[in-house]
Amino acid sequence: MADLIVTIDGPAGSGKSTVARLLARKLGASFLDTGAMYRAITFAAMQAGVDLSDERTLLHVVQKHKFQFSVRGGQMRVVIDDVDVTGQIRSPEVTAKARYIAAAPKVREKLVQMQREFAAGRRKIVTEGRDQGTVAFADANVKFYLTAEAPERARRRQAELRAKGCNEGLEQTQKAIEERDRSDRSRTVGPLKPAEDAIVVDTTKLSIDKVVETLLELVREKC
Ligand code: C5P
Repeated sequence: MADLIVTIDGPAGSGKSTVARLLARKLGASFLDTGAMYRAITFAAMQAGVDLSDERTLLHVVQKHKFQFSVRGGQMRVVIDDVDVTGQIRSPEVTAKARYIAAAPKVREKLVQMQREFAAGRRKIVTEGRDQGTVAFADANVKFYLTAEAPERARRRQAELRAKGCNEGLEQTQKAIEERDRSDRSRTVGPLKPAEDAIVVDTTKLSIDKVVETLLELVREKC
């Protein structure tokens, strides 16, 4: 297992991906975006046209295809059966359907195992998701939970979508985010919640740089 494990959990739009990536760079650590893993399985299952609520079929999808996760230019690169699907897994359709995969206990087990294997091969890691501090790395050195008010998270997500040429109304974006929060918080396995020993940071009024600086200081203090 890695010598330094920093986990960052939080709801959609809380800034955790960007912050985790920048913090990893500052710490000379590897970065793991676990949402990309859930998205990859979702994409593969959608391509196969299978019933997303059938866990056995989903497990079959996980076993049948070759999933490769690596980091390039600070971004998680996702390859399924030698085809790069890094861009496709970020579509609004995949985002909306990922909750089916996230609610399947055996699929989660498999993904947590893959996340631990990823960490085992590295010296330092910053990993982000929903259950990194609570389930995947319960013994992590430092745990963060990032939050932000829903309208601000919606504004950030909308800006992100716009940059990709996708226009969505703010109200619709906020509704989708709140819907995702509800489903992430209410599932029985690996629900979205802060670990008991997590440091909670509200990023609503903070710039990305300020959040990274704050987290970096806290990691240095603790380790
Ligand atoms: O973080 P991102 O928005 O890419 O995650 C996509 C979806 O994957 C989330 O809405 C959540 O349902 C699921 N997820 C999860 N556990 C994680 C990471 C993501 O359930 N550790």
